[in-house]
Amino acid sequence: MRRFIVALLVLFIGAQVTANDMDAKIEDILKQLTLDEKIAMTHAQSKFSSPGVPRLGIPEIWMSDGPHGVREEISWDSWSPAGWTNDSITAFPALTGLAATFNPGLASQYGAALGEEARYRKKDILLGPGVNIYRTPLNGRNFEYMGEDPFLASTMVVPYIKGIQQNGVSACLKHYALNNQEQWRGHINVEVSDRALHEIYLPAYKAAVTEAKVWSVMGAYNQFRGQHTTHHEHLINDILKGDWGFDGVLVSDWGSTHDTKEAALFGLDIEMGTGTDGLTTSSENAYDYYFLAKPFREMIQNGELDEDILDDKVRRILRLMLRTNMNPDRPLGRMNNLEHLEVARKVAGEGIVLLKNDRSFFPIDPDKKMTIAVIGENATRAMTPGGGSSALKPKNEISPLQGLQERFSKATILHSLGYTAGPSQYGRVIPSTMDADSLQKAAVKIAAKADIVLFFGGLNKNHGQDCEGGDRQDMTLDFGQDELLKKLIKANKNIGVILVSGNAVEMPWLSKVKGLIQAWYLGSEAGHAIADVISGDVNPSGKLPFSFPAKLSDNAAHSFGELSYPGDGKTQYYKEDILVGYRWHDTQDIKPLFAFGYGMSYTSFKLSSIKTDKKSHGAGEIINISCKVSNTGKIDGSEVIQIYVGKPKSNVKRAVKELKAFQKVHLARGKNASVELSIAVDDLAFYDESISGWNLEKGDYLIYVGTASNKIAKKVKINIK
Ligand code: BGC
Repeated sequence: MRRFIVALLVLFIGAQVTANDMDAKIEDILKQLTLDEKIAMTHAQSKFSSPGVPRLGIPEIWMSDGPHGVREEISWDSWSPAGWTNDSITAFPALTGLAATFNPGLASQYGAALGEEARYRKKDILLGPGVNIYRTPLNGRNFEYMGEDPFLASTMVVPYIKGIQQNGVSACLKHYALNNQEQWRGHINVEVSDRALHEIYLPAYKAAVTEAKVWSVMGAYNQFRGQHTTHHEHLINDILKGDWGFDGVLVSDWGSTHDTKEAALFGLDIEMGTGTDGLTTSSENAYDYYFLAKPFREMIQNGELDEDILDDKVRRILRLMLRTNMNPDRPLGRMNNLEHLEVARKVAGEGIVLLKNDRSFFPIDPDKKMTIAVIGENATRAMTPGGGSSALKPKNEISPLQGLQERFSKATILHSLGYTAGPSQYGRVIPSTMDADSLQKAAVKIAAKADIVLFFGGLNKNHGQDCEGGDRQDMTLDFGQDELLKKLIKANKNIGVILVSGNAVEMPWLSKVKGLIQAWYLGSEAGHAIADVISGDVNPSGKLPFSFPAKLSDNAAHSFGELSYPGDGKTQYYKEDILVGYRWHDTQDIKPLFAFGYGMSYTSFKLSSIKTDKKSHGAGEIINISCKVSNTGKIDGSEVIQIYVGKPKSNVKRAVKELKAFQKVHLARGKNASVELSIAVDDLAFYDESISGWNLEKGDYLIYVGTASNKIAKKVKINIK
């Protein structure tokens, strides 16, 4: 025991010494820097880098997008690709796909692998992950985020960040905060209650800062209560750097800085992307004219701003450097190795969600001789390019058609486009020149003669679909997909649909198809992972990280008219308040098409012996919940046990229930396991605006134990003293 205590003490003192060492080093460097050198460090010198101090051997900081792979090299001074030939990478599934795994262990592997690639590419900051909450199915960037639930996003983001940063590469948590739509993102002013802010929109950021200790955070484009979020007194100074003790660097989004004094005073540390032509003719947008460049220096020199403000920024930048590019011990990284592809394939396979499976339409036996008609542009369309800043240039991207051709080598596979979206460039969609009618006819023809039809549709990465810089116009499928599906169903009843998208879509044809799979943007291994699930090599275990409403007006944000979404061009009010996603569907009793947390398997599971350790708990205690999970089907598989908590009688508005714990369990067929989950009583508190803090109500609570927000096996009543 004594030896143990001594060991702990040594560890503790060791950690102290390291932190103190770092602070001492920072002070030592800071003393040697001139005003100009310090100013230079607080803003960009190129599209994706900020300068170091060559005189002292202090390196530049190099950044790159993005959340699901390291972006190709971009030109020094413009958005055009630099044209390198050695920057192709492994593309990992977009973050909705990762969230759908409900598997934090995989998030850790994902982060570690992606961090290795970033390190190999000599990046010091990787611009991701994004944890903006899925508020509306129209948001063009939902595919980059982790769904509608703050607990799910918090649980998944922490291991992802730790995985990245163990490589000596900083994750950059974005977009802080309330950037939940692309429409008018540069200026829209969000009005939301403090309660919704703290209960719904901030928890994942808080977890990333306080638990994962993220080293950098990116401010957002939009405003909150009349102030731009990239230099926001309350969000950054009070909450992020104050309450949460964030000691890292606040980086602006590209072009989200608007004012020197605000940027200086309200927490911005490195300004990026304000101007883009530092090397060309105009001086107005050159790097010296950034808000945190010459104008900042002038305000310090004429006494309007204190030099301490600058020093705080430089300390943070140096701290980030000592953790990354000035850390001599950081590993070297790896890229495009087999292990990374395996992680990408595993995450993709576990993230795919089986939503409908009449008479076991899936899996399809790969050893059977048959004719499969594969129809739809998304069977062959590359999904790693496009979508905005998260676009990737992978070494290889396996299309769904390719994956099926490899795995179903005994079958005859016919392929027809059926529809096409056409390309898009720079936010402009270029209409396809192909004749829609002929495409449909050709598809129907092969559908009629096939044994099985697999339709690959959904959205894509074009502007106006799942893409940065704009929202979708509505929730329906474009390019005549609904109409085409109607015709295909008429030609062949044996049809399954695979939706490739990062967003919910309306499905007027749902009752007429036998199977439905939700595949996300799955990266390099997309086609392999999809074939893994269709063939049954992988038993699906993904769960929806957001609700699929039956129609747009069933979604909370859209239930309050245009002032709620998209706003009047200046301001928007989050009128649904805390009732986002399933919280809204549950509370209003509006059945979603598919509920949050839902996803089927090729086997079946049963939950039994569900109980809590005690009937009554006090503040500071832990509620332990146990249950037995049995795999009652014929094949091995995984199930996600989900625990929600509600308070039927409350003095404040409450959602019927909220996710508070979950665990993925793998079980061989016929086997069972007992699962223990726990919830801290304090996590049942609501954010009380009257005290600007958390308030734990006493009384009875209901613990819901199930396998989806709409599949609850048992409710257990407990009391909080
Ligand atoms: C996006 C960020 C991205 C940055 C750099 C911005 O437009 O909002 O997410 O990291 O560009 O590409």
